[in-house]
Amino acid sequence: MTTSTPSSVSAPVDRLGRGVDDLRISVIDRCNFRCTFCMPADQKYTFLPKAELLTFEEIERLARIFVELGVHKLRLTGGEPLLRRDIEHLVEKLARIDGVKDLALTTNGFLLNDKAKALSDAGLDRVTVSVESLDAATFGKINGLGHSIDTVLEGIDAAANAGLGPIKINTVVMRGTNDDEVVDIAAYFKQRGHVVRFIEFMDVGTLNAWAPDDVLSAEEILNRIGAAMPMEPLERHRSSDVALRYRYLDDGVEVGAIASITRPFCGACSRARLSSEGGLYSCLFATTGTDLRSLLRSGQSDREIETAIRSVWSQRSDRYSEERSQRFALGVIDSEPKIEMFRIGG
Ligand code: GTP
Ligand code: 5AD
Ligand code: SF4
Ligand code: SF4
Repeated sequence: MTTSTPSSVSAPVDRLGRGVDDLRISVIDRCNFRCTFCMPADQKYTFLPKAELLTFEEIERLARIFVELGVHKLRLTGGEPLLRRDIEHLVEKLARIDGVKDLALTTNGFLLNDKAKALSDAGLDRVTVSVESLDAATFGKINGLGHSIDTVLEGIDAAANAGLGPIKINTVVMRGTNDDEVVDIAAYFKQRGHVVRFIEFMDVGTLNAWAPDDVLSAEEILNRIGAAMPMEPLERHRSSDVALRYRYLDDGVEVGAIASITRPFCGACSRARLSSEGGLYSCLFATTGTDLRSLLRSGQSDREIETAIRSVWSQRSDRYSEERSQRFALGVIDSEPKIEMFRIGG
């Protein structure tokens, strides 16, 4: 049967046979942190004026179209999404969309104590909070502005109390910076029942002076943790999941590692990314996006916008992390001007 609604047509697949399940929506390019691995404090940044950001209505409209195309996971990111004024109003709109099975938000946690209850009341399912160190001095250095880890830990407690679980913690591991804390971080969150995912430091963007020697491999991270707190491997929930998952033998709490460098997972990558000004990116390492905002603002119909998205997705052949491994094997370092991660989220 055919109807005039977008749902009448089949879900798109890209050139490698991957559908689109997961939409990551950056709601703002600003951040109140200057993490060394993302937005180093010694660089100058220019941010988008408010009028260039998608409005909540525009984001909702695009999300609805993506859901018609197969998306059932939405993640709000930034920059720092809690800096977007009244973000809970957007959450409320997205939570109402039929077909959204998982609505999550990635935050640095600094404003979470204030916002957790409102986000939960608005219908947010869960949060992921970035924590690179539990040591005040190291944390202050990594976030570039001397911000306190205590504020973030209070925010995490507030999120747990507001029912925004299972709480996940993202920890980017950099050799010589915070790799000595891997076991302490794992133990702290294990005790609270939160899922830590240790992330191999990646060569995202162009500013973080990434070098292969800075990477501590997921294997080494997991060996260190397993030696202190025995654990067993778990299956991936879905083939497109990014994390290698483990469970501690004593209490069953989950822990994981995201091995984008040493064990890339492009094969099942079903993630689309929307920048805060409405650019559609088909890969975290893309160099350019497709401008959906101009379609929204020039009176195009949902069907026309759907066609544009479908066209991007059906031409998609991205597998940057896998190609990076091949380039490394050949000793080639790439020099493409990749999009900065704070513009399209983690
Ligand atoms: P859950 O649904 O909670 O498991 O979230 P997720 O698996 O989508 O993970 P999350 O959004 O927390 O991403 C964690 C980190 O993994 C990001 O901050 C990135 O560092 C990395 N990551 C996520 N998606 C990709 C991806 O598509 N490619 C690469 N290379 N890294 C990714
Ligand atoms: N390498 C790996 N992950 C990164 N993130 C940001 N920059 C990097 C990087 N260079 C991820 C972190 C953070 C999320 C917002 O983005 O996981 O939690
Ligand atoms: Fe740090 Fe996230 Fe802000 Fe980047 S966007 S500087 S990772 S808090
Ligand atoms: Fe997907 Fe690109 Fe990440 Fe590979 S590198 S998993 S294609 S976003």
